[in-house]
Amino acid sequence: MPKIVLLTGAGISAESGLGTFRDEGGLWAQHRIEDVATPEGFARNPALVHGFYNARRAQAAAATPNAAHHALARLQQADGFDVTIVTQNVDGLHEMAGSTAIHMHGELSGALCAACDHRWPAPLEMSVGEPCPACKAPTGRPDIVWFGEMPYHMDTIADHIAECDLFVAIGTSGQVYPAAGFVQEANYAGAHTLEINLRDSDTSHAFRDHLVGPASQVVPRWVDSLLA
Ligand code: APR
Repeated sequence: MPKIVLLTGAGISAESGLGTFRDEGGLWAQHRIEDVATPEGFARNPALVHGFYNARRAQAAAATPNAAHHALARLQQADGFDVTIVTQNVDGLHEMAGSTAIHMHGELSGALCAACDHRWPAPLEMSVGEPCPACKAPTGRPDIVWFGEMPYHMDTIADHIAECDLFVAIGTSGQVYPAAGFVQEANYAGAHTLEINLRDSDTSHAFRDHLVGPASQVVPRWVDSLLA
């Protein structure tokens, strides 16, 4: 059975109304990474960081999956393919569409204790000093992988890529490692590689094939062609 690994980035959720990071007017044009997406920023100003993720959590909770998420769910549920979705996205749109996904950058729906690593479902609004249900310390934070922290599930992801026949990256700029290096791992593994994006990414040169256009249109067409 052909094994497919799909890597998704913010571009797949753009047409669900969730802003990307590095496109014009994106999140990193409005916020400083070092203030809202680093452990040091959280230590300096936890209220600012909780406010940033509370707003994103509310947006994600109000969003619905688009045709690209639904098409990937269809592919994952189809007979004849072994499909692993690895996402850098912290929204829950793959799951809402009926997929299972490996969340390498964490999830907005999760809370993490900075003291004991216990995880629990995040309330819609997290507050400064959010108490950990396990150790009771006031050290709850969003379960998001920040810059300078190690992404989750790296061994599992490497194993999937090493065994895949096809690696597809959808809506990611290829600017953030380690995810940006997955295409090279797939090339070393002898897999076919496909990039789906509105435009060239920083890693386009490493992909064999390219489909250019909005994910909500290109992904369903590509899935239809595979399942035909
Ligand atoms: N369809 C397809 N691709 C799109 C669409 C769309 N409708 N809209 C935007 N894109 C593409 C852009 O061309 C760009 O290549 O999606 C990509 C978005 O890039 P980024 O904003 O850099 O998002 P991403 O690659 O997911 O970022 C990686 O950076 O800060 C972090 O942790 C954060 O997980 C995130 C990581």
